[in-house]
Amino acid sequence: MSTVHLIDHPLVQHKLTLMRRKEASTNSFRRMLDELSTLMAYEITRDMPLQEVTIDTPLETTTGKVIDGKKLALVSILRAGNGFLDGMLNVVPGARIGHIGLFRDPQTLQPVEYYYKMPEKMCERDAIVVDPMLATGNSAAAAVALLKQRSQPKSIKFMCLLAAPEGVATLQAAHPDVDIYTAAIDRQLNDHGYILPGLGDAGDRIFGTK
Ligand code: URA
Repeated sequence: MSTVHLIDHPLVQHKLTLMRRKEASTNSFRRMLDELSTLMAYEITRDMPLQEVTIDTPLETTTGKVIDGKKLALVSILRAGNGFLDGMLNVVPGARIGHIGLFRDPQTLQPVEYYYKMPEKMCERDAIVVDPMLATGNSAAAAVALLKQRSQPKSIKFMCLLAAPEGVATLQAAHPDVDIYTAAIDRQLNDHGYILPGLGDAGDRIFGTK
């Protein structure tokens, strides 16, 4: 079974609380999300492999360790996942970006793909799939399934701001190999699939569409 990593750093928790408040403007919601995603990217990349390289300081030759950021792919589930990208790129500016678009079929309530674009050579990259809200878990599970089928990355992690217990259970059952990184696990979903207490519709709050 995969591990759920709760990122409980005080800075993360503080900013998340500010974002949850209904009074937060689009501007401040976005700014907080940017800052939070930088902090969360710092945690999620903690176990990235390092390579030893030889360098010259102004005084002598020595060895140092570097990451290969280009071997990382951030995979955004449209549209709210895009809100994570700029903040994460602050710490891994060389990362490549992929996008997966899914909508929910009103008849079957199942996710249907409308967009899929990945960087080349995904089989050489570690992927971090991002979506701020892990609610029912159906989109996340479908996005990870598509990524595995079509692109076979070396590894996959999933990062969100908030998770519902139902979403965690769905994603873990479908993909026991995919660790989940979240800033909070909230109480439950309501009848419309919104996370309680949550922060509302993440896409609307990021893009100012409501
Ligand atoms: N998507 C959102 O944006 N918010 C929720 O609470 C659940 C899904």
